[in-house]
Amino acid sequence: MSLAEANRRFFDAVSGSYDNKPWFAEVNKQVTSELRDDLVWAGIPLTSTSTVTTTNAPPKEVRLLDYASGTGLMTRIFGPYVTSSRAIDISPNMVTSYNARARDAGLGETVVKGVVGDLFDKSHPSPAEFESAEWWGFDVAAVGFAFHHFADVAYAAGQLKARLRPGGVLVISDFLEGGDVLAGEDGKPVLGSEGNHAAHMHGHKHDDGSGHAHDHHHHHHHGEEGKIHDVGEATPEFKKKMNASIVVPHFTLEGVRQFFAEAGFVDVDVKTMKERSYMEFAGKKLWRTILFAKGRRPVEDGQEKSEL
Ligand SMILES: C[S@@+](CC[C@H](N)C(=O)[O-])C[C@H]1O[C@@H](n2cnc3c(N)ncnc32)[C@H](O)[C@@H]1O
Repeated sequence: MSLAEANRRFFDAVSGSYDNKPWFAEVNKQVTSELRDDLVWAGIPLTSTSTVTTTNAPPKEVRLLDYASGTGLMTRIFGPYVTSSRAIDISPNMVTSYNARARDAGLGETVVKGVVGDLFDKSHPSPAEFESAEWWGFDVAAVGFAFHHFADVAYAAGQLKARLRPGGVLVISDFLEGGDVLAGEDGKPVLGSEGNHAAHMHGHKHDDGSGHAHDHHHHHHHGEEGKIHDVGEATPEFKKKMNASIVVPHFTLEGVRQFFAEAGFVDVDVKTMKERSYMEFAGKKLWRTILFAKGRRPVEDGQEKSEL
């Protein structure tokens, strides 16, 4: 099974309950306030925020691409500060949920629209369905907690860079390597358990679509296994499905900086959330450190002259 297929299957299966858990709402709240605290860092042009509405000029168009959108966390975070959002996800059920939520919120297709797709299939680098103008020239591309599902992160970043206008920004959230700590019975962090505790693969092979199966060898220190409580998500079948969708469970700050640079981004910055976030995966309860990264597509000579 290809990595793309594994992601489609896993996220199609979990889309219904994906973000209805209390801990998930709490994580989303933390991520929302962190990103909204510094909109300029995240590439939202200042002119679009309420702090600069002293002139009568109509608000400039600000277009967001929410890639691997899931149910639309990034769209909900940045929605109030952009004029339109377009989303792509490999899981049809996630896209259905994304669009349903937008319609429920009273937002029409011109404002918020999600489509099933994959821009990282190397055998189809320019899918026909994403050739029209509405899929190019974004001001911001946001990818929430999905880079650890991508086979080739530098290629993925490069594909997203191509979808940005010159000067546009890619902003991502993901997990920090070594940033986990187990949660005890009371939900509190277990001192001394700092390390890597998220599910990950052990030399599984993925076919990236190029015909070459990759062997991912990751050597991590293993801590104590977390206690399993949530039976529904702790079944071997669920774990297998979840693990098959994941390439690496986390990144180092330097690793993220490197793949942004490799993809040709400038003004790259990587930071972590000060407080860990409580999560549950496949029955395991833990606190994880969330990281954020951003990079700007360089403004090449001769482009965007009118704005300078
Ligand atoms: C952990 S979820 C994150 C969803 C959302 N961005 C959020 O922050 O809540 C990862 C998402 O990535 C999607 N995905 C995985 N691989 C993909 C690919 N190659 N192209 C597009 N979407 C992909 C999955 O279907 C899933 O919805």
